[in-house]
Amino acid sequence: MATLNDTLAFKGLKLRNRLVLPPITTAYGTPEGEVTDRTLGFYRQRARQVGMVIVEAVVVSPDARLIPRSMGLWSDGQIAGMARLAKAIKAEGAVAAVQIAHAGARGPASDTGISRGSPSGAVMAPGEPPTILSEGQIAGIVEDFARAVARAREAGFDAAEIHGGHHYLISQFLSPIINGREDRYGGDVAGRATLALEVTRAVRARVGEDYPVLFRFNAVELMEGGQTIEEGMALARLLEAAGVDALHASLIAQGGWRESSSGVRFLQSTSALLKEQPFGGAVPYAAKIKESVGIPVIAVGKLADVQEAARVVEQGLVDLVAIGRQMIADPETAGKVLAGRRDEIVRCTECNGCFASIRKETGLTCAVNKNPSGRPEY
Ligand SMILES: Cc1cc2nc3c(=O)[nH]c(=O)nc-3n(C[C@H](O)[C@H](O)[C@H](O)COP(=O)(O)O)c2cc1C
Repeated sequence: MATLNDTLAFKGLKLRNRLVLPPITTAYGTPEGEVTDRTLGFYRQRARQVGMVIVEAVVVSPDARLIPRSMGLWSDGQIAGMARLAKAIKAEGAVAAVQIAHAGARGPASDTGISRGSPSGAVMAPGEPPTILSEGQIAGIVEDFARAVARAREAGFDAAEIHGGHHYLISQFLSPIINGREDRYGGDVAGRATLALEVTRAVRARVGEDYPVLFRFNAVELMEGGQTIEEGMALARLLEAAGVDALHASLIAQGGWRESSSGVRFLQSTSALLKEQPFGGAVPYAAKIKESVGIPVIAVGKLADVQEAARVVEQGLVDLVAIGRQMIADPETAGKVLAGRRDEIVRCTECNGCFASIRKETGLTCAVNKNPSGRPEY
């Protein structure tokens, strides 16, 4: 029986335990998408006890930003800053991975390149409408992913995670609600996976067989007409066959069509389990993903409950447990979970103010932890 304190080795990586810091966009970077001391402070504090840190969504081009201050790896000039970050994480004993992302239609409108690239025009945010991507533009984005992952490797990251979840670009293609294309990028689950698989294969071809590549995706979309868990399982098998080394099984916890004040219909969704959804509420889906593949699977979603986190690993439901918001509220949560010191965890109240804060000038803030970056001047 595995425990949370057991190591895990795969694809040349050795994690000292089964806890993972999942990607959390901090908005602590510069407007040019570069690492700052605040970025370093946030990750140093949280790298001390987990087995692996997956750095927040770092984007493949300026028009791929999730928020105006997303960090980037679209140019070689951004490698030095990311190298400082990788080094800081590794110095704390954690495996350093970085998430590579493209927001597509869910990002802010862009003045450079393609504004809000989208599979078939579904509006994901009020304001400037999406641009439906041509095959040529898609090929360019595939190439951008490969280049960004190569830069992540050059910066010293032990692994990269492709962001295929949460209704950002790759996830927009994967979703039956969003992707209405009639070419080879749309249709059934295999057709909708075309972009995900092309990105995976291009990354693999660029960084070689040995570099660990993780893939984050929605195991299920819990909304009307959303991707089913059976489709999620089929997708997992396709990703494994395309050469992914581990799967990060997230989900869409809730979503629906809303109308903006100017009468535009847009799709709003959230990846975080709601207050009324139970601790570990996404585990049954992650466990189904694990049943479908032979590679390690990470579960996420309100898993900072000591007993629940221990149980999912001990029962072999998944291999790794990621703890998100609770690590913002208390950066020592991982150590406390590993030691079974449940009562000492300073609890996240699930107010979700953190999600709103990353779009503001302040960058990430937390109602519980007044200083998430650990910087004295903050
Ligand atoms: C402020 C904030 C920023 C996030 N940024 C990212 C991100 O950059 N990439 C990503 O895949 N998920 C992101 N997430 C989602 C988390 O990785 C995680 O899946 C989610 O918080 C659910 O886990 P939890 O219940 O432990 O918080 C973010 C979550 C929060 C709260």
